[in-house]
Amino acid sequence: MWEKEINVNEVKEVRVKTTAYIGAGAIQKFNNIAEELASKGINKVVILTGRAAYKKTGAWEVVEKALKDNNIEYALFDKITPNPQHLDVDEATNLGKKIGAQAVIGIGGGSPIDSAKSVAILLKYPDKTAAQLYELEFVPQEAAPIIAINLTHGTGTEVDRFAVVSIPEKEYKPAIAYDCIYPMYAIDDPALMTSLPEFQTMSVSVDAVNHVFEAATSLAANPFSILCAKETVRLVHKYLPRALKDGSDIEARYYLSYASLIAGTAFDNGMLHFTHALEHPLSAIKTDLTHGFGLGILLPAVVKQCFDSRKETITEIFAPIFGDEKNIDAQKAEDLTKKWLKSVGLTQTLKDEGFSEADLDKLVDLAFTTPSLDGLLGCAPVEATRERVRTIYKESL
Ligand SMILES: [Fe+2]
Repeated sequence: MWEKEINVNEVKEVRVKTTAYIGAGAIQKFNNIAEELASKGINKVVILTGRAAYKKTGAWEVVEKALKDNNIEYALFDKITPNPQHLDVDEATNLGKKIGAQAVIGIGGGSPIDSAKSVAILLKYPDKTAAQLYELEFVPQEAAPIIAINLTHGTGTEVDRFAVVSIPEKEYKPAIAYDCIYPMYAIDDPALMTSLPEFQTMSVSVDAVNHVFEAATSLAANPFSILCAKETVRLVHKYLPRALKDGSDIEARYYLSYASLIAGTAFDNGMLHFTHALEHPLSAIKTDLTHGFGLGILLPAVVKQCFDSRKETITEIFAPIFGDEKNIDAQKAEDLTKKWLKSVGLTQTLKDEGFSEADLDKLVDLAFTTPSLDGLLGCAPVEATRERVRTIYKESL
């Protein structure tokens, strides 16, 4: 395949709505980014990240030096957790306000980058809170510039206009989508992803596959989202087993990273529907549930529900997963999806994660009442009735 003719150690520029740098060593591009920020008079930034990965991967060494070299003052908020919470976003915003931050840098996976996008908005709307932002109480028109340094390969948030932050006291995990939060620059450096543990490696790649399954089958799907979907599934199917076998396989990390990037662009175009709308209530209730893992548990039942209405598209984009099987129907599609997930180590059900039949009504309620999730359900290729949503949860138990 053509992948062999690409030098994964050469940093390439991919221009989607965001300018993304991909390739081993792409982190060095931050030097140019810092120079550009300084040349625009941006000399104060706030940085959002988790507790450890930003240092462990070596990203911080480059970022800190570049900021110092360009006389850019920074405030560091390194307390972002998986499934980030609105109060943390408010705290980081206040930290940014204190130094007069003019731009925001997110370093890490989806959580720090989504939190960075949220802070970027709140810096422009100083009288608003993250809870107001995620309960859709106002529509932001502007945000501070965002730089996304991506340390995982699944969310696509480094190149899209989405962000997700939880409001745990209401068991809400809403998503926002605004043009003002496309990052200005994104860095996808596979050499910073080699220490990603096996479980995270699997979960984030399953997240990317869910993004494209939904983006290709939604009511908003377009030919471009379907094209990106086909390539994402092909690349994840080919390279995920390699990355699981050897985390330091740079070529595998490169193509998983690229797959994630185009998957992000796919759902920026085609939107999302069932798996994301139904996963958010799961990780809103059990905040330690990993997003991509939760999606993977739901995916087979969602494939089954959508199959008849999008048979040609699903058969085409899932061709690597379906293999040589002929005469695929909805049940077979579900079985083959489960078989593939099992092959990458995802065998659990919702029961294994502590959910039971008694939770079904609450989960269905949250899928319909959490701000923004009704919008996703409205993009589903078959009508998202309460009964259908309940069936998907039930079949995933
Ligand atoms: Fe996702």
